[in-house]
Amino acid sequence: MTAQIIDITRDHAGALRQACTVLGDGLPVAIPTETVYGLAADATNPAAITRIYETKGRPRFNPLICHMSDLDMAERYADFDPISRRLAEAFWPGPLTLILPLKPESGIHALATAGLDTIGIRLPKGFASELIRAFGKPLAAPSANTSGKVSPTSARHVADDLGEKLALIIDGGAAPVGVESTIVRVENGVIRLLRPGGVAAEEIEKATGLAVIRPEGPAAIIEAPGMLASHYAPGAAVRLNADHVVAGEVLIRLGSAPVKGMELAAAVFDLSPSGDLAQAAANLFDYLKRADATGAASIAVTPIPDHGLGEAINDRLARAAAPRE
Ligand code: TXA
Ligand code: MG
Repeated sequence: MTAQIIDITRDHAGALRQACTVLGDGLPVAIPTETVYGLAADATNPAAITRIYETKGRPRFNPLICHMSDLDMAERYADFDPISRRLAEAFWPGPLTLILPLKPESGIHALATAGLDTIGIRLPKGFASELIRAFGKPLAAPSANTSGKVSPTSARHVADDLGEKLALIIDGGAAPVGVESTIVRVENGVIRLLRPGGVAAEEIEKATGLAVIRPEGPAAIIEAPGMLASHYAPGAAVRLNADHVVAGEVLIRLGSAPVKGMELAAAVFDLSPSGDLAQAAANLFDYLKRADATGAASIAVTPIPDHGLGEAINDRLARAAAPRE
């Protein structure tokens, strides 16, 4: 099988129609979202969800985010506490996933939630939202990459990785946010950050007036196994907080300050010449893939400030640099 690719700027109606057909057949479809490309399937259909896990080679104990078109749909599947509701109102549609108590017998298949009594819900923007509305059911969708690899931010990335395993890829251009959604869980009035992502923790604090609690120790890993070390692993070694380049390394740089030894670099990628963290996040995965494709043995990355979207960037870089199993 080689995936058909439909560009929504050329055939929007055809993309929606074809995606609905494939989803209705119980097959996954790769779709653009504002964060990264997702591998979407009917969240109520066990065979369809099984195909997501098989296509990605993903462990089945790792639950999937369920994507909804609107708050009404979300409320059919989950119970909202007042703080989660406030977060939904402030950030949906957008790059925020809420972990919420799952309503029993709601129709979401246990394979999507990995049997947990909670559900991860997100309302995406753009084509993904239109598709869910047209399909009429929630879509379970992890990032559209082989498990353990860097997430795709373009249809090309998906095609290169999974093109032979998929029936359909919808091309919606470069994903504007470029890192996955922020995942939070509210319990007993406390907001816990399970994964930093496209909504900065500071924005969540501003919207709620509450502190966001960072995970401490391995508990968060058990809750969200996608957070395991060595997740976003490129083939090359990744060297963080680099203040110099070793001959033959690829350099990934934030800002335009010269880096010692950079004239010896195999290639240089500028995440954002002006140091803008949103632009850096949007470029991150594409540059990691391109740096890796040079065949260099090592990728040196300059320090990234740990505020705003920098927290998500540093989280993904730390995983890319983690020792491989
Ligand atoms: O931006 C995103 O979130 C992208 C796009 C496609 O929406 N999706 C994405 O999905 O990054 P994935 O499967 O790569 O990451 C989902 C994360 C995993 O770490 C998983 O463990 C966690 O969400 N998760 C899902 N449901 C959960 C639940 N009920 N409790 C705790 N963690 C959950
Ligand atoms: Mg992923």
